[in-house]
Order: sequence, then structure tokens, then C-alpha cells
Amino acid sequence: MDYNNFSKSVLKWYNLNKRDLPWRYKGNSKKDPYKIWVSEIMLQQTTVTAVIPYFKKFITLWPNIEKLSSADINEILDFWSGLGYYRRAKNLHETAKIISSKYYGLVPNNKEVLLTLPGIGDYTASAIVAIAFDLNANVVDGNIERIFSRLYKIEEPRDLSSFRNVIRTLSNHHVPSKRNGDYAQALMDLGSRICIPKAPRCN
Ligand code: ADE
Repeated sequence: MDYNNFSKSVLKWYNLNKRDLPWRYKGNSKKDPYKIWVSEIMLQQTTVTAVIPYFKKFITLWPNIEKLSSADINEILDFWSGLGYYRRAKNLHETAKIISSKYYGLVPNNKEVLLTLPGIGDYTASAIVAIAFDLNANVVDGNIERIFSRLYKIEEPRDLSSFRNVIRTLSNHHVPSKRNGDYAQALMDLGSRICIPKAPRCN
């Protein structure tokens, strides 16, 4: 394995194999941080397949921050009934109101600011700054931990917190200086399609 070219190889793979998901952008269409934020909240506890129809409908009903911030919370909760984890819906509404009143209706492009908003933790804040703004961020979830643990042949951990710290350090060295959003999403796709938990589809 050529560790020096890991991010380059991953990006090359992504160019050819990226999943066509409704919150992703084709060609020159502009990124919409609102859609990326909404998708990341939905994807916190729900699979990609289950999220797709809900995401599309959500965006039709509430296409931007203004519409969402002035929506009736009960309508949002009704809509959310198939997804579960209702707190996410309440947090989306609360955060839309805060963004609308405090941040001129624009999703903040800063991780520290995002972390102050309801429903946004470390993973989600990193995913938003990388995907929506192409900022340097080390986005690591369980799938991505698996990729790096295999890449560096790190055994099943006895101490999960030190394992996580080691993985963070290693993965941090691979964060590219460009295409941060593509790189984060490439790892997500790789983790769910190739580097799967059992019988990985690669050597
Ligand atoms: N899981 C969490 N965020 C995701 C994204 N943007 N694409 C695919 N899977 C994800």
C-alpha cells in the first residue's frame, strides 16, 4: 500500500464510482449548505436508502432556511414520523430559527460555530464544513474507522478510546488540501460499498 497516495487513489475511485444521491451535486450545480445540513441530520440515525425519499420530500416542503424557520413544528414532527428520533426534527427547527435570526439565514462555515447549534456534534460539524464548504476537516465515523484500521492493520481494539485516538491521528495525515468534501464522501461510499464489515470487496 502506498500510504502517500491514499487520498489521491480514493478521489480517483470516487470520480468513477460515486453514488448518485439527491444531496450531492452534479456538474456545475452549486452546493447548497442547507441541503447538506438537512441530509447530515437525517443520516445521523437512518440509512442512506431510507433517507432518500424523506430527504426529497423535506426539500420540496421546506426548500430553504427561511421556510423551515417559519414552519409549524407540528407539521415537521408529523413529517418525521417514519424516520424516528424526533429530537432531530425539533433540533432542525430550532437551528433554522437561530440561523435565520443570528446568521443572516446562512449555514455557518465554521466548525466551532456549528458546534453551538442544536443537533450538531463533532461528526456532523466536520461533515458539513467539508462537504458544503470544502474546508479541511477529518470526518470519521464507524465505517471510516474500519477503513483506516484495515489500511494500517490495526487489530480489534481492547480499549476503544485509544483505538479511536490512533485512528484519528492516522486519518488526519491523509486529509487532502483540496476536494475535502469529495474525499469525505468518497470514504463514506468506500466504507458502505467496498470496505464493508464482512467479506470486504477488495484485497
Ligand atoms: N452518511 C453520512 N453522511 C453521508 C453522506 N453525505 N453521504 C453518504 N453517506 C453518509
